[in-house]
Amino acid sequence: MDLTIEGNAYLNGTFEKRCIGIEQGKISAIKKILKGDEHLNFGRKLILPAGIDIHVHFRDPGFVYKEDFSTGSQAAAFGGITCVFDMPNTKPQTTTVQTISEKIRTAKKKSFVDFGAYVAIDDENIKYINGMSKHCSGFKIFLGSTTDSLQLSEQKLKEAIYAVNQANKITLIHAENEQCLREHKEVEHNLKDHIRCRPSECEEKSIKDVLDACRDVSSKIHICHLSSCEGFELLRKKPKSVSVGVTPHHLFFDVGSINSKQTLYKVNPPIRSNLDRETLWYGVKNGFIDVLESDHAPHTLEEKEVDFDNAPSGLPGVETMYPLFLAEVKKNHLSFARLISLLCERPAELMNIPKGKIEVGRDADFIVIDYKETTTVKSENLHSKCGWTPFEGMSTIFPGDVFLRGERIIEEHQLTSSSGLGNNVASGVQ
Ligand code: NCD
Ligand code: ZN
Ligand code: ZN
Repeated sequence: MDLTIEGNAYLNGTFEKRCIGIEQGKISAIKKILKGDEHLNFGRKLILPAGIDIHVHFRDPGFVYKEDFSTGSQAAAFGGITCVFDMPNTKPQTTTVQTISEKIRTAKKKSFVDFGAYVAIDDENIKYINGMSKHCSGFKIFLGSTTDSLQLSEQKLKEAIYAVNQANKITLIHAENEQCLREHKEVEHNLKDHIRCRPSECEEKSIKDVLDACRDVSSKIHICHLSSCEGFELLRKKPKSVSVGVTPHHLFFDVGSINSKQTLYKVNPPIRSNLDRETLWYGVKNGFIDVLESDHAPHTLEEKEVDFDNAPSGLPGVETMYPLFLAEVKKNHLSFARLISLLCERPAELMNIPKGKIEVGRDADFIVIDYKETTTVKSENLHSKCGWTPFEGMSTIFPGDVFLRGERIIEEHQLTSSSGLGNNVASGVQ
């Protein structure tokens, strides 16, 4: 056995003092006593599965002044995320075999964590879905316009979903109805205006369209960043093939709780009312929400600190997501079981990857935490190139150590690997 690590491990819903054996990057044994060539004893510290973030924008290529695959994936690693899935609204957009292959080549060189990438479907490339599916982890559809996004017209939604179903991949959807957004468009001065321009009814209408279009398909459909009560009501009775994600910012903030720096919190879909926020928490706690996804969407402060109407939408979050929710568990706002399901188990299931659980045969991806060590978020301690965070001052539990396929990539809060170790996790991809 190459390595054994010992500690209080999260196994089948409880913590047990165990040794985990690792061979060739995989978990090979879990026993009370084990000794490998190298043995690391973490004592009373907790060993949890590392997190998986199915929704990040690492801006590479095209907007690498905001982030690139190296800085984005380092931020992920420090935050206990060992696998990320990158969105296609880069420059060029990821809409062809060539652009997805190029992005994967870049990520292989730069990424500190494992990764996958999505292809965006628009009205042009819809006929090539089958060919492109051999190169990506899944597809992204933007039904409403958002930062640097392409769009698929509403009439083509069913055709696209059917084609992805044939290719047996997952489809992730930004669900805001474009027609509805257009009808509400006006000049925006603050977050309340942003909500008026992108009301819940636009999300509701779009989710309805998706549920209608996917009635007869078996492939997975994922609704990204749910933000409203209305959307939640529709998804309560969703079919098995449909999953839904919520972001940290929609759970931690509501429009009434943000007083300063309004443009920093400008994001699509908008941060809404306290009632929306509480409904999302209800869904998270009671198993109606499948995953937490950061929607890590960095922009520079320079870009954000302009008048509200011209500020881009999006905020960073990949590094702080797992630590923020660990602190919520400590405050008894959430159980470990729900957290691990939302950040590890369900994302692994959705993306069909052998991660997300401490179980023999799976990748040896772990985080080690000192449950007593609570710290507060400070932007200067974070690693995204954008250099700021909307979560400043909030309480967190950061992992001291992070393992990616048995490699200790973070050791006592320090990065140990000097270059990218990340693999493409897309199954069946050349
Ligand atoms: C995202 C971005 O900046 O890429 N912006 C956002 O407000 N969430 C795009 C998106 O996910 O809609
Ligand atoms: Zn989106
Ligand atoms: Zn996004």
